[in-house]
Amino acid sequence: MARKLLIEHADVQGIASYDVYRKHGGYASVEKALKNMSPDEVVEEVKKSGLRGRGGAGFPTGMKWSFLAKPEGVERHLVCNADESEPGTFKDRYLMEKLPHLLIEGMITSSYALGARRSYIYIRGEFMYVLRILEKAIAEAYANGMLGKNILGSGYDLDLVVTPGGGAYICGEETALLESLEGKRGNPRMKPPFPAVKGLWGNPTVVNNVESIAAVVPIVNEGGEAYAKIGIERSTGTKLISASGNLVRPGVYEIELGLSVEEFIYGDDYCRGIANGKKLKACIPGGSSVPILPHYLVTKTAAGTDRLMTYESLADGGFASGSMLGSGGFIVFDEDQCIVRNTWNFARFYAHESCGQCSPCREGTGWMEKVLYRLEHGHGTLEDISLLEEINKKIEGNTICPLGDAAAWPVAAAIRHFRDEFEWHVKSPQEAQSRNYGLIQAPLEA
Ligand SMILES: Cc1cc2nc3c(=O)[nH]c(=O)nc-3n(C[C@H](O)[C@H](O)[C@H](O)COP(=O)(O)O)c2cc1C
Repeated sequence: MARKLLIEHADVQGIASYDVYRKHGGYASVEKALKNMSPDEVVEEVKKSGLRGRGGAGFPTGMKWSFLAKPEGVERHLVCNADESEPGTFKDRYLMEKLPHLLIEGMITSSYALGARRSYIYIRGEFMYVLRILEKAIAEAYANGMLGKNILGSGYDLDLVVTPGGGAYICGEETALLESLEGKRGNPRMKPPFPAVKGLWGNPTVVNNVESIAAVVPIVNEGGEAYAKIGIERSTGTKLISASGNLVRPGVYEIELGLSVEEFIYGDDYCRGIANGKKLKACIPGGSSVPILPHYLVTKTAAGTDRLMTYESLADGGFASGSMLGSGGFIVFDEDQCIVRNTWNFARFYAHESCGQCSPCREGTGWMEKVLYRLEHGHGTLEDISLLEEINKKIEGNTICPLGDAAAWPVAAAIRHFRDEFEWHVKSPQEAQSRNYGLIQAPLEA
């Protein structure tokens, strides 16, 4: 059975309360770090662990921390990105709802490492009930001397503020988040300067995902080297996966990185296969922003090796035949699902959520949505498919933040792997509307 470092106690009754959490070993990392370690030693353990950011991009957390500017007399901040709005991703909400003290513990230990004395949790506005859970847990942490002045007699002071997000997907992009936290419209900032140099209120700031911050707790408790022993290559430790779609047992799973995709989809400890005895048609392994994989590339790479739940293996084959681990939003489609309809649905989301700052994204996401609507509703032409590819190229890499790429890549991948289905919507729209799908054949070279 795989080890669980984050959510092992998620179903213990009362674990959201300080007392029960403490009884299960909670806040040990705060005691260890504040009493026995220097801030730099904590950073060193995180570096040794190989932890990569769990928000989507997979940037090494220890390296990000070491970039934090430390000018004399200037305040620094840690900001937790709890905006979680990527379609298909719901693991941060689960973690915060079940184990609010785990996030708070991670915030204290991480803030100590970074020398932050005022840290923030920016939580998606729609998660109001989770915000209330966090507020209660923060009040308990203050009452028990884990937050506030002179924590555990160490001389270290920390205030922790939880604040609701602006209600837009773009507010999860780290610089848009900082704008929003400052009370402004959540538009991404031009970079450089990066937040590590000029972030919240112009101060050096680290922005990390909920899960990345929670992972600091087992890293400090057990040591970075022990953490790095779990996983494969540059994918170390455990990862929360939000599994959804046509699965027998969807839900949030903590996996050891390196697990095979086959085992994750079909294994008894995980999703137990495709629901209703249907066949697997496709899978989006890392949230709506990453390329879709057709069934013959889900459990095997194009080279025929087993596909693993790692940053490297899911990306194997590049954009031609790979995808990304992303935020771990694992969406599974059975043989009855329509790829054109799904692509249109995601495009609608991105068109709605584009902040409008960069014209390629503002206009391009809207155009893609309109063209996909036409195709899905039986008014499309074969030229529309090439038009989509052209719009894609104009958006990709031409925007301030990666929302444009996130909108373009899934469309490109859907056409690359399911062109027949797009053409079918043009040539036999009524038949396509009847939703009588089926599996596409693997191309000969696959
Ligand atoms: C449009 C957009 C939305 C994003 N939404 C989130 C989010 O909800 N949560 C998150 O942690 N990262 C999100 N990110 C990534 C953040 O910009 C940032 O990389 C991340 O919070 C860094 O944390 P990590 O290094 O711990 O992964 C988003 C990025 C983009 C471009």
